[in-house]
Amino acid sequence: MEERIFGKPIITQEEMRKRIRELGLKIAEDYQGRDLLMVGVLKGAFAFIADLSRATPLPLRIDFLVVSTRAKNNTDSGRIDIISDIFQDLAGQDILVVEDIVDSGHTIAFLKEKIMGQKPKSLKFVALLNKPQRRKVDVVVDYIGFTIPNKYVVGYGLDYENKYRNLPYIAVLDKVQEE
Ligand code: IMP
Ligand code: MG
Repeated sequence: MEERIFGKPIITQEEMRKRIRELGLKIAEDYQGRDLLMVGVLKGAFAFIADLSRATPLPLRIDFLVVSTRAKNNTDSGRIDIISDIFQDLAGQDILVVEDIVDSGHTIAFLKEKIMGQKPKSLKFVALLNKPQRRKVDVVVDYIGFTIPNKYVVGYGLDYENKYRNLPYIAVLDKVQEE
């Protein structure tokens, strides 16, 4: 029963912990001596940024913005709304945007253009998951946790109809598998 609802785990808690520890150390090395601002993209990135920031031994700062994709199963439209923006000035800052997953690439392309307009000192992106088979726009993702096949996944912040974000691992939700 539970298995049917929650789907099959494709990345376990232990695998995630290990990979996030590596990413955090790499980011700390790359940003050493700089003033890093991590910006989490809510809601999906809430779990990842909590763990990634704690795995990054730097005196970094954390902020959030909230986005929503208009049509859930038609991200091709690229229609993204900012529900809540960052309230601080991004000019001259070293910014690392923290995303749950890169799918079509529209969200990252949108955020890149928007943040670059505010003249940061640097701008990079980190995503826990990457689904390259679904890419519609070419985007550079500087740090990637895991590259996954073209399946709809939930857990660890990722949702299906706003549920399953609390799963402590990444699972394929059987009933919404995509071609
Ligand atoms: P984009 O298509 O790269 O713009 O990704 C948009 C957003 O869609 C991501 O930030 C996720 O919140 C969501 N998304 C994409 N693929 C999945 C998935 O497999 N499961 C849950 N959410 C997803
Ligand atoms: Mg989402």
